[in-house]
Amino acid sequence: MSAARKPPRPFVTANFALTWDARVSTRNRTPADFSSKTDKHRLLEIRATGDAILVGAGTVKADNMAMGLPDEALRAERIARNQSEYPLRVIITNSGKLDPDLKVFQGGAAPILIFSTQRMPKPARELLAGKATLYLDETPTVDLSAMMTRLRRDHGVRRLVCEGGPVLFKSLLVADLVDELHVTFCPRIFGGEQAATLTGIAAEFLPESTRLTLRKMEVIDGECFLQYRILR
Ligand SMILES: NC(=O)c1ccc[n+]([C@@H]2O[C@H](COP(=O)([O-])OP(=O)(O)OC[C@H]3O[C@@H](n4cnc5c(N)ncnc54)[C@H](OP(=O)(O)O)[C@@H]3O)[C@@H](O)[C@H]2O)c1
Repeated sequence: MSAARKPPRPFVTANFALTWDARVSTRNRTPADFSSKTDKHRLLEIRATGDAILVGAGTVKADNMAMGLPDEALRAERIARNQSEYPLRVIITNSGKLDPDLKVFQGGAAPILIFSTQRMPKPARELLAGKATLYLDETPTVDLSAMMTRLRRDHGVRRLVCEGGPVLFKSLLVADLVDELHVTFCPRIFGGEQAATLTGIAAEFLPESTRLTLRKMEVIDGECFLQYRILR
């Protein structure tokens, strides 16, 4: 391999529901529950395409999600495509402060991988070690490129579905590690300065603006589903 060639990484697709003022949640970071049943099923359809799903610690906590795939038909389609029945569950946290009592750690058929750092508190390490594979970087923050390489090389992840939240999504954009974006615009307006947008609380600019090209658009019951590719 030439020095300039990057190691293979998964194709990364992200999925968010947005209000019309582009908020992903309320000021109190309540679970993202403002989209329709159709959108929630679409979320599962997108999730089902992934070899793994990736979520930041903030979302796992706020939404207390199991990161599973409760739709039997979607699981059957995965098996027919030679994918595992359930996508791997990948959680990322710099601090390592994850509560082992969270729903995601209470069962579910798919293995869990946690990418964190040596900052993970010892009790959490001991409690989580029996429930997940821990990758603890020596660096103060998780090396996203190394995580992607490991997912592809050691876990066969070719397609990674990122379900947020905004802090994670922004960090992936900054590292140029997003390939596709699905957004559902919902007919709601939240307002306020403290409700996070797609890239978090509107504050710092991205180092460069990200350009997108529209691949698909569908309107169902007042919601607008958009699929974009990231332009490089
Ligand atoms: N509308 C939607 O589609 C949608 C989707 C997802 C989430 N949400 C909402 O968004 C809110 C949560 O927002 P959030 O910004 O806190 O979510 P988040 O990005 O899931 O969580 C942020 C935390 O995740 C960890 N993290 C994120 N990026 C990381 C990176 N590159 N490296 C290492 N760790 C990383 C850090 O955990 P540590 O602090 O432990 O280091 C960080 O504090 C919730 O209300 C949720 O419902 C909405």
